Amino acid sequence: MTHELHPDLARVLISEEAIRERVRSLAAQLMEDYAGVERLYVVGVLKGAFIFLADLVRELSRPVYGLPHTVDFMAVSSYGKKTVSTGEVRLVLDLREPIVDTHVLLVEDIIDTGHTLRYLLQTLGGRSPASLRSCVLVQKEGGHSDIKVDYLGFTIPDVWVVGYGLDYADRYRTLPYIAELRRQVYAS
Ligand code: IMP
Ligand code: MG
Repeated sequence: MTHELHPDLARVLISEEAIRERVRSLAAQLMEDYAGVERLYVVGVLKGAFIFLADLVRELSRPVYGLPHTVDFMAVSSYGKKTVSTGEVRLVLDLREPIVDTHVLLVEDIIDTGHTLRYLLQTLGGRSPASLRSCVLVQKEGGHSDIKVDYLGFTIPDVWVVGYGLDYADRYRTLPYIAELRRQVYAS
């Protein structure tokens, strides 16, 4: 069965099945790496990471393998309605708890310029966590090799993508796959 693609989308880059499989393997890796840890503080970056985080933590909760964790969120703002980073990151929502001596996993949807992740790692790193790692679903090709990504789902070409939490001006977020947005849609 072929599914019709929304006319604003150029092509599907990562299918629903591929995402599901990758999320499972990332969770398996996390459970192995954090085995014995009393509690992992999983921090999602709103809004983009909410779907990835929801799927990831449910994989962490499967019986037998379960990794004890708490979920929290942060929100930052840098793009507004544009598709080009302003380079300035603003903290819009902070964590509810202090993270001193806590194992923290930062869950982010995508890395483009790397400004957002760098800012968040710096901010949280300054609060003396027991450990701080990042788990990112997709990273765009080119540059930002100085950014510390501990767990990466996929690498994609440098195009604007939507779906699985990712948006353009708050649209297309709940598509089950990740697709390239046609340039005309955001160039106009
Ligand atoms: P960076 O700070 O340039 O790395 O951008 C990171 C943030 O910009 C992500 O958390 C996303 O919210 C947003 N972003 C960057 N590229 C895309 C994209 O292709 N689609 C949707 N959101 C994006
Ligand atoms: Mg984001």
